[in-house]
Amino acid sequence: MTAWAGPWGVSFAANLTPDKATGLGSWTEAAFIKSMRTGKHKGVLRDILPPMPWQGLGQLTDDDLKAMFAYLQSLKPIQNKVPDPIPPKR
Ligand code: HEM
Repeated sequence: MTAWAGPWGVSFAANLTPDKATGLGSWTEAAFIKSMRTGKHKGVLRDILPPMPWQGLGQLTDDDLKAMFAYLQSLKPIQNKVPDPIPPKR
């Protein structure tokens, strides 16, 4: 339940632990909130693919998103490089 195939290709659920190289360890709270609100990686880069439900999560209040980010950053960092998404075949 960590990989999904659809018209967007294949996407892999992100590593949400605070590992600096492979997770959210180098993200700021502001980038996390912006990413949930805009559906962009780190709030500014590529589009986040389905089925990541950012359209719903992005409607939470700043306080709720800050609490979620604080919780995620409190987890034990796990080094796990998730594969890059695979684009759809033509
Ligand atoms: C509270 C719940 C959730 C939080 C806080 C969360 C957070 C995140 C974050 C921060 C990213 C990284 C985005 C990036 O690297 O730019 C991500 C990616 C992703 N999430 Fe979630 N997520 C949640 C729930 C879910 C659920 C329920 C699913 C699937 C049913 C899901 C599937 C994915 C996928 C497939 C990606 C990678 C998309 C891509 O490569 O573009 N997430 N999520």
